[in-house]
Amino acid sequence: MIQYYEDRQTFHLTTPNTSYVMALADGVWLGHLYYGAKLHDTAGMEQAFRLNEFPFSPAVNERDKVRFMQMFPFEYSFLGTGDYREPCLSVENAHGMTGVELTYRSHEILPGKVVPDGLPHTRGCGECCDTLDVLLEDRVLGLEVHLLYTVYKDLDVIVKSVRVVNRGDEPVVLKRVLSGQLNLEPDRCDVLTLHGSWGRERTITRQSLKTGAVSAESLRGVSSAEDSPFLAILTPNADQTTGEVWGMSLVYSGNFLAKAQIDQIGRLRCVMGIHPENFAWPMTPGEEFQSPEVCLVYSNEGLGKMTRTYHDLYRNHLIEKRWLTQDRPVLVNNWEATMMDFDTDVLIGFAKAAKESGIDMLVMDDGWFGHRDDDTSSLGDWFVNEKKLKGGLKKLVDAVNDMGLKFGIWVEPEMVCEDSELFRAHPDWRFSLPGRKPGALRQQYVLDLTRQEVWDGVYNQIHDTLASANIAYVKWDMNRYLADVGSLEAEPGCQGQLLHRYVLAVYRMQERLLKDFPDLLLENCSSGGARYDAGMLFYSPQIWTSDDTDAIERLSIQEGTALVFPMSTMGAHVSVCPNQQTGREVPFNTRAKVAMAGTFGYEMDVRNMKPEEKAQIPGQVALFRKIHPVVREGDYYRIASFRENHHSDCWMVVTKDRALAYMTYVQVLAAPNRPGVRVRMQGLDPEACYEVSCDYEGSMAAHNGEMSLGPQSSKKLGRLNGDMLMKHGIIVPRVRGDYQALLYEVRKV
Ligand code: DGJ
Repeated sequence: MIQYYEDRQTFHLTTPNTSYVMALADGVWLGHLYYGAKLHDTAGMEQAFRLNEFPFSPAVNERDKVRFMQMFPFEYSFLGTGDYREPCLSVENAHGMTGVELTYRSHEILPGKVVPDGLPHTRGCGECCDTLDVLLEDRVLGLEVHLLYTVYKDLDVIVKSVRVVNRGDEPVVLKRVLSGQLNLEPDRCDVLTLHGSWGRERTITRQSLKTGAVSAESLRGVSSAEDSPFLAILTPNADQTTGEVWGMSLVYSGNFLAKAQIDQIGRLRCVMGIHPENFAWPMTPGEEFQSPEVCLVYSNEGLGKMTRTYHDLYRNHLIEKRWLTQDRPVLVNNWEATMMDFDTDVLIGFAKAAKESGIDMLVMDDGWFGHRDDDTSSLGDWFVNEKKLKGGLKKLVDAVNDMGLKFGIWVEPEMVCEDSELFRAHPDWRFSLPGRKPGALRQQYVLDLTRQEVWDGVYNQIHDTLASANIAYVKWDMNRYLADVGSLEAEPGCQGQLLHRYVLAVYRMQERLLKDFPDLLLENCSSGGARYDAGMLFYSPQIWTSDDTDAIERLSIQEGTALVFPMSTMGAHVSVCPNQQTGREVPFNTRAKVAMAGTFGYEMDVRNMKPEEKAQIPGQVALFRKIHPVVREGDYYRIASFRENHHSDCWMVVTKDRALAYMTYVQVLAAPNRPGVRVRMQGLDPEACYEVSCDYEGSMAAHNGEMSLGPQSSKKLGRLNGDMLMKHGIIVPRVRGDYQALLYEVRKV
């Protein structure tokens, strides 16, 4: 609900459990007052503006206006007129001078959402949300700044974005226009970010913030493996179930900045949006700019509640609706097994073996096009290599379909290799800086998709490939970061638009692809999980999480990813051991249970497997089909983290009606003389009785190991009370051997 109290000039935005309050000071300055647990009334809050203290407000004390500017908790901050903290908006006028000052003009409350043109966005109609549009202006520049707040009625979420319109007579340049900020006055706080690298994406990183700033950012042209466009502020006592948490998640896939800064008087300002570095957006009179959305979530029940709110938001209001309930195909992908060394016969062999095991789809990865046998050539040539796929793509796809399997294909539309027909015909289509030879990465270059002819040239090829056969799934890869970003077509003053325009061009291409092939399942990917963000989820309901398929490594990668993103979005496959990245040997059973936390598949040579492993696949596929609806649509609870306790990892999924739950427990490291571990479940109905069982025997058979089985060693633990399971917990027996996984089923009786 959105309320405006005329007498106090106060806005009160409420969701089921939260309040967000801002108000005008002196009738002109929009300041932030509160974001936290729900309030019945906001009267008296404006004292937090401290207008009765020196320096007072500029209306009272014009002499010290700058002192006011540097201290006032602006709702949306701006640079150049006295606020020295990290700003959201910076504008250069026609004479190259930087300075902007935003004052309130009007506001409007609209039913439903204001949809940002060309950008991925959260969705909603008048029944599930309302939007507040607060219009601020800079009278000197003639700039209008619309602060948009979408408030969900059934979720503790506020989505912010900003639309800037040049209503002046002269051009201006937006030097930065971040999506929104968060102001808090914590006594002490921690900052949580998802830091990483290739193969170690989205590792949870928590640090206390006392002075200065902590940031997460990308200048790589994509959201990156190194930092994720997410930041949370936590009270120091916050854990999975208790404490206060404020989350900010950006719906964007390019360069971003997320920064938490303590100011000179101990207040906290967090900003998030498109990174201002390498960004400059000229606007002639009448032009507009729309920022991406930032989704704010507040929880006073720890990180777990924040996570579940983001999952509900992204599943119900971001990802295309049909994927919430639609089963995802169990796939086999040939990449780790064959790399680029395959042909029709090899793939048909994969399909046969997959069919025998109950797998739904064969995905043909990199290496099917041009004359690509390694990474030195052919990106840009999206036509079949007939030496490998004899008789062409349709023949292969038809044969696979005839076996009863779907077919999926890998593409990397944004790239070109120098050794390609595309490059020979259009050497000027890649990004480059005049006078410099652009630098290669993985022997490839980024196409300047901001140019329409380049966009068309690439899209038409991809379109024709997909139209030529019955393709059910596309894995859209992107294997390098951007560098040497210059466009031959952009005007000199517009080169600062390129990085954002590039992201918009990618969005436009994925949107078009889905329009032309409405049944397609799109999975995004970027050297593993380097573009795993809410922007991409708008187009693809699943994203390849990491090239690190080692199940033990995946525990922390998937824990960090699932902190914000729904589990049903995490591409996760069972791969061969010793693992290609780490050399680790993990039982087949454990590899499967870890992959079942996401979308499930195999990334190994299913034709040549150990018979005892191959024999397990049908059972694993059946188990995945059983638990996946709960993973996909239920609530996720993080029970224990190997990252923190150094011995085990544990998570649970629970149906919304709390009638059925699955708990996966991975004993990562065995230890001598350690009794069974007590695990307290979460999310159950305390009043209900549950039949609890565990697949101990299944695990034992799977890795042929030994277990020390205590008195609870039978498959069924019996009928146990929800209250007991959550408060007292169960004892998970000590298992012999590292990397052992158990699955508990908890079913209401
Ligand atoms: C990177 C992806 O993450 C891999 O899964 C694979 O598709 C390769 N690219 C292919 O080049």
